[in-house]
Amino acid sequence: MESSCKYPLQLSSVSEEYAAQYEESLKNPEQFWGHLARTRLRWIKEFDQVMDCDMNKGSFKWFQGGVINVSENCLDRHAERNPDKAALIWEKDEPGEQEVVSYSTLLDMTCQVANVLKKDGVKKGDRVAIYMPVSPLLVAAMLACARIGAIHSIVFGGFSAESLGSRIIDGSCSVVFTADQGVRGGKVIPLKQTVDEALKGCDCVRRVFVARRTGAKVPFTEGRDVWLDEAMSQESTVCPPEPLDSEDILFMLYTSGSTGKPKGIVHTQAGYLLYASMTQQYAFDFRSESDVFACVADIGWITGHSYVVYGPLCNGGTTVLFESHPIYPNPGRYWEMVERLKITHFYTAPTAIRLLIKYGDDWVTKYNRSTLRILGCVGEPLNREAWLWYNNVVGREKCTVVDTYWQTETGGITITPRPGPDNSPPKPGFPTRPFWGMEPALLSLENEVQHGPDVSGHLCFKRPWPGIARTIWGSHEAYLRIYFEPHPGYYFTGDGALRDKENDYRITGRVDDMLNSKGHRLGTAELECAMNHEPQVAETAVVGYPHEIFGEGIMAFVILKSDVEIKDKDIVGSLKELVKKKIAAFAIPTAFLVVPGLPKTRSGKIMRRVLRKIAADKASELGDVSTLADPSIVKQIVEIYKTKLIET
Ligand code: PRX
Repeated sequence: MESSCKYPLQLSSVSEEYAAQYEESLKNPEQFWGHLARTRLRWIKEFDQVMDCDMNKGSFKWFQGGVINVSENCLDRHAERNPDKAALIWEKDEPGEQEVVSYSTLLDMTCQVANVLKKDGVKKGDRVAIYMPVSPLLVAAMLACARIGAIHSIVFGGFSAESLGSRIIDGSCSVVFTADQGVRGGKVIPLKQTVDEALKGCDCVRRVFVARRTGAKVPFTEGRDVWLDEAMSQESTVCPPEPLDSEDILFMLYTSGSTGKPKGIVHTQAGYLLYASMTQQYAFDFRSESDVFACVADIGWITGHSYVVYGPLCNGGTTVLFESHPIYPNPGRYWEMVERLKITHFYTAPTAIRLLIKYGDDWVTKYNRSTLRILGCVGEPLNREAWLWYNNVVGREKCTVVDTYWQTETGGITITPRPGPDNSPPKPGFPTRPFWGMEPALLSLENEVQHGPDVSGHLCFKRPWPGIARTIWGSHEAYLRIYFEPHPGYYFTGDGALRDKENDYRITGRVDDMLNSKGHRLGTAELECAMNHEPQVAETAVVGYPHEIFGEGIMAFVILKSDVEIKDKDIVGSLKELVKKKIAAFAIPTAFLVVPGLPKTRSGKIMRRVLRKIAADKASELGDVSTLADPSIVKQIVEIYKTKLIET
């Protein structure tokens, strides 16, 4: 097909050419992505075929025949040109305690960790779990895995021992990286202790490398545990990058799914790296020579993988590692840090913005934010009020706000205001338009594509892109069932969306049984399974409801066994403990209702729409409940909601 674009492509974040370039990316994806992969990445051997993908079969192979090393792309090539440039600025928990790590130092650290792993017998394809605080050593551990072809599986430090253990077992990880303790918001997090607990049920782990963060004394298991600094000090700072196939696995990362069990989303080498680096550069207009990129997400989430580590480092930029909390030691933390570190890009979640609005503008305005150019957001809808505050107060109406829509599975940003023409008016609440190569489609339940403007439906993507997850670890069948069977020929996101009159996209929320609270994605089944372990409980049902700060609150409806006599507050206390133990403290429901029964259909299915209305305090909009097995239960629940709701 005749191309309307000239190669080499002149891409830019604010390109007036966006429309033509977007069209080109859809019409000639081989030429478009092939050109970018050749020019942006360093190859050990260049690929033979750009793409071999089949949306119907959920089969994706990018840059086949190519041999590459991700750590070489993120480190060596920048260390060769610019060894002293800051790769990382580690903003520790206490403000002002930052440490800067140059590209050459990060390369040395990474090679030492890689040699530690090699000496320990870790080989290409082995799985390595990482349960560490946000720190340069965590980045070195990730890149060391990438250097030797081991697969990292990072577990966010807020997860419980049980969650960590089940992820380690699912991935049959042989090695774990952790730290003595973490610190966040002035509080100590007992990471090593949690690892010890998690490993009680795991036979697969033979080695635990422990980094020193606080210097606390922690118990050591003879023959298994090793101090990371001692092991590194014996290793050389040179470790040749392992030649890896484009489609070898780079990492897996667990995310909540519809079943109770989280799934290990698998990303591979070249396609992921290209997509993360492209989106980091163009969605944020990132200029690697001079900019300071602060994505304040924890590295344990996909946002941290793609926009704290892989994207900015592949682009040779300076990235901030934020160890602390938005209101520690006070609600001015982010903006004091922006002033001190001269941050140009700030990327956070709407829930943090809504939290900060509550504390008033003075905490923002007393700091100099003139270096800021781009303000990004991800994880949940950025409501109009929060958008306006971010734009007007934080950004002084001088920054561009980018509401980026994407998922663990997409590897990188898929819908975002940039790239795009500079004069396109901002639209609060809308991630607006697709990134190059992405073709969103809105489908009805009957699989009909909703054409034209002013329509809504299930948000799907019609074409393959390099960053798409390739499988679920250990369950390709689940991968196909979840993402490709609901709408054959399309990747299904699990979200609903609308396309307005100007063809801009807005996300309307999950259409499956997933919740999105405080920017964290949680499955209702996962929470119910955890709470159903309580011996006094017969059944639980969890739904989301609008929450002023968390975006979505989590309400648990609890039915006790018939012979149980216990105070509501006691059972709620024990359910909170259970969720903390089985999942994580951040997953604890924000509200509980102990009820005599649930609204069920005659076939025994819980009518969640009824529970959602009650939880949203909209009982007057319940509609027809006559098909319920026992319609009178609804009245009782509504009454209990009014009088006995327990908020946590
Ligand atoms: O529901 C969408 C919501 O977050 C989900 C993905 O969650 P996770 O895989 O944990 O990744 C979060 C960070 C990439 C999506 O299915 N979501 C993400 N970004 C937005 C969003 N909802 C509305 N607007 C967004 N910008």
